[in-house]
Amino acid sequence: MKNLTTITLTINNTPTTLTVPPMKRLLDVLREDLHLTGTKEGCGEGECGACAILFNGELANSCLIPALQANNATLTTIEGLAPNAAHLHPIQQCFLEQGGAQCGICTPGMILATHHLLAQHPNPTDTEIHEGLSGNLCRCTGYMRIFESVKQAAIASAQSIAAHAPQSPPHNLSS
Ligand code: FES
Ligand code: FES
Repeated sequence: MKNLTTITLTINNTPTTLTVPPMKRLLDVLREDLHLTGTKEGCGEGECGACAILFNGELANSCLIPALQANNATLTTIEGLAPNAAHLHPIQQCFLEQGGAQCGICTPGMILATHHLLAQHPNPTDTEIHEGLSGNLCRCTGYMRIFESVKQAAIASAQSIAAHAPQSPPHNLSS
């Protein structure tokens, strides 16, 4: 009888229980068992970042993670970023507007890497952008449009935060 294990985890804010082979790659669990095919396979060896997800808030290559390791984990895939099916996440919108995606294989991983980067560096320098995306390879864009997408996403994020910041009461200048 095939060796199976039951794992419980939270994926895109949804508590999930699965019975799968313990060493099945998390990438395959996402794509085959959960039909979350936004997560892509590139190299399958931890080198390209196409399969990147957020694993307990950290960027991780799902092709290197056995299913058993995801027990009790909290995951975010590209499907979990957009607020709903009709609206893109602001980072996705910036990639669209700036031409940061061509064939799209690297794009989900790039966008999750950008999300992770901006959480740590809301106003990233060029060096921080290069370092933040250093684990994600793209064969199409030459990277410049991706870097522009990230910069635009940082600006959009800052504007969104400013727009939703609580207003300070006006100073009383009368004596
Ligand atoms: S497919 Fe996982 S790092 Fe390339
Ligand atoms: S857009 Fe094709 S690999 Fe990046």
